[in-house]
Amino acid sequence: MQIITIAMQKGGVGKSTLVRSLAVAAARDGLSVLILDMDAQQSVSQWGERREAEMPVVVFSTENELPRRLEQAKGAADLVIIDTPPARSTEAPAAVEIADLVLIPTTPDVEPLEQMPRTLRLCRGFDRPVWAVINMANPTGQAEVTQTREVIEAMGAKAAPVVLHRRKAHRDASASGQSVQELDANSKAANEVANLWAWVRAEMQNGKKS
Ligand SMILES: Nc1ncnc2c1ncn2[C@@H]1O[C@H](COP(=O)(O)OP(=O)(O)OP(=O)(O)O)[C@@H](O)[C@H]1O
Ligand SMILES: [Mg+2]
Repeated sequence: MQIITIAMQKGGVGKSTLVRSLAVAAARDGLSVLILDMDAQQSVSQWGERREAEMPVVVFSTENELPRRLEQAKGAADLVIIDTPPARSTEAPAAVEIADLVLIPTTPDVEPLEQMPRTLRLCRGFDRPVWAVINMANPTGQAEVTQTREVIEAMGAKAAPVVLHRRKAHRDASASGQSVQELDANSKAANEVANLWAWVRAEMQNGKKS
């Protein structure tokens, strides 16, 4: 069983959207996927209720419940993806500590980029592979992504090679309890998520070998 934690102290950068997208992509790949929703807003749990599908399983978990939830998942889940709250929290460090891979979504805007060092510091306390994921990039023009990548690298961090652009499909999918791949597997948003998942899967396999 492998664990991916999605963390970023800045709100609204796409943490929960990334959790849902990767969880559905992994489930479509045949994995048994458990989402642990550690955000008291419970937006992923509510999405889980809007769905009719069995996968991914979505369970809310406090920090205290986390060890027990993971113990229960052993043997049943191939992959656990953890959503964490914005702002400073006790949930995010607990979820980073037990992760095999940490993803930090950010938009190309200055506000989340200014806050990213805090989340990076939190991750550096634990020796985990950590990648920033650029989300909601402008679909027209590459300059913004290039610049954002440079800012992230200047912080001593790495940005995932796959970028998610701003696409309405993410909002539509959420509203109907789906992911962008379920809404329309041929959409640009779905393609980006499929590419991101393929990269994440390969990263986790590399991590297992080393
Ligand atoms: N690539 C994208 N394109 C368009 N809209 C997006 C994209 N990613 C996320 N969104 C939208 O942005 C909003 C915020 O996303 P989301 O709830 O995933 O962020 P969050 O980081 O989990 O927020 P919070 O910190 O409040 O938990 C949502 O309405 C979501 O549908
Ligand atoms: Mg969220």
